[in-house]
Amino acid sequence: MGLLIKGGRIITSTDDERADIYCAGEQITRIEAGIDQSSLPPDTEVVDATGKIVFPGFIDPHVHVHLPFMGSNAIDDWTTVSQAALAGGTTTLIEMICPGPKDEPRAAFEEWLGHAKGKAACDFTFHMSAVRFDALAQSQLRDIAIDCGIPSFKVFLAYKGALDLPDEHLFGLLTMAKKLGVIVTAHCENAELIDAMQKRLIAEGKTGPEWHEPSRPTAVEAEGVHHLATFAEMTGAHIYTVHTSCFQAVEAALHARARGVNIWIEAVAPHLVLDKTYAEKPNFEGAKYVMSPPLRKKWHKKYLWNWLRGREISTIGTDHAPFNFGDQKIMGKDAFTKIPNGIPSVSERVDLIHTFGVCAGKIDLHTMVDACSTQAARIFGLYPRKGTIRVGADADLVVYDPDHKRKLTVKDSLSAVDYNAYEGWEVTGRSEVVTVRGKVQARNGKFVGAQPHGQLLKREPTHF
Ligand code: URP
Ligand code: ZN
Ligand code: ZN
Repeated sequence: MGLLIKGGRIITSTDDERADIYCAGEQITRIEAGIDQSSLPPDTEVVDATGKIVFPGFIDPHVHVHLPFMGSNAIDDWTTVSQAALAGGTTTLIEMICPGPKDEPRAAFEEWLGHAKGKAACDFTFHMSAVRFDALAQSQLRDIAIDCGIPSFKVFLAYKGALDLPDEHLFGLLTMAKKLGVIVTAHCENAELIDAMQKRLIAEGKTGPEWHEPSRPTAVEAEGVHHLATFAEMTGAHIYTVHTSCFQAVEAALHARARGVNIWIEAVAPHLVLDKTYAEKPNFEGAKYVMSPPLRKKWHKKYLWNWLRGREISTIGTDHAPFNFGDQKIMGKDAFTKIPNGIPSVSERVDLIHTFGVCAGKIDLHTMVDACSTQAARIFGLYPRKGTIRVGADADLVVYDPDHKRKLTVKDSLSAVDYNAYEGWEVTGRSEVVTVRGKVQARNGKFVGAQPHGQLLKREPTHF
């Protein structure tokens, strides 16, 4: 059965055009003004997009689903996370595979893939974390990147003793990545400084969630970015800083770029719309807003938005990492160091960026598409199959009502997590119809599609 999206305003990262889109099967096959319906098969499904915007399906380049972390497990599975993503207009998720330091990479890859396969309702791929770099790990990481089609690694400079990779191994990994054409994504915060600061604050009796940010201030993140960039400078590897939260960290990345380092910068929705005062809410409510890097002072947001507008920051992800408030965040009641880190946002990202970015005049619609879809596709080897609207691309489409107003609430969310960090916030804009490879998967915030429908997207290395 074909799908016709009629009368919409098509917005890509560069273009703005009124035309109909016809999808025969999984791909877009025609984009023309006024497609004559009598030229199409009689069972064609027609979506009226009059007065609506048609966006390419949004891509979230940074989510956690299966995440054993800080003594707990993230609460979504691929059923709930993919439905939540689709309800919010996101049609492709890139999940971080985060094994423990003793786990073999190949086994971890199979484990993470096993969780997604047969459950995902949207398309997906992974970034493969390197938490060890012995000979066995090297050969398995190579196989995962090349043979399994996962040409993006992840390193953590933070989380001492759990996920962090020592410098000797960082050098080895970046050297290998350069040879293979694999991009290395990185969580940039100095693990030693955080460890020392945490110990000091806890010893001083500063145990509440409001002390999370002071334990890892902006300088700690900027050092991490500079550190990684120096290693990239020495090896020629291409790097991508995830969830870059503050002026100082982006500045360090831009300095590196000016020196010739191939560096891409990701912002995430929580850092663009929330700030440090949320983590200071009384009665432990601040724990809902504990993530790393932490929420910063308000003024940083202005820089992040302006750097998005100038396209110095390439992508907007979420770092969706859902831990319940009731029985998981509470583990850190007596010490902020034990609060599982993460602010779930996979369903809310697109409407938050539309409301507080586009409607607020900070970025235009093209920049929104670029940051929330096109750049992730380009950087991670999915373009032009994903990330744009053109003949031959996958029919991942979002028919968007830019005027719809509603309040965000945990009750309407399809994620399994027990709170909404944006509870009661009014947003403007909603994904009315969301398709994945030609199939309608969500309508008006509800999942209406097939599960499983999602495919693993195998990619080629492009970062030589
Ligand atoms: O707070 C966060 N970011 N939680 C998820 C793990 C990570 O560092 O990305
Ligand atoms: Zn991280
Ligand atoms: Zn993350």
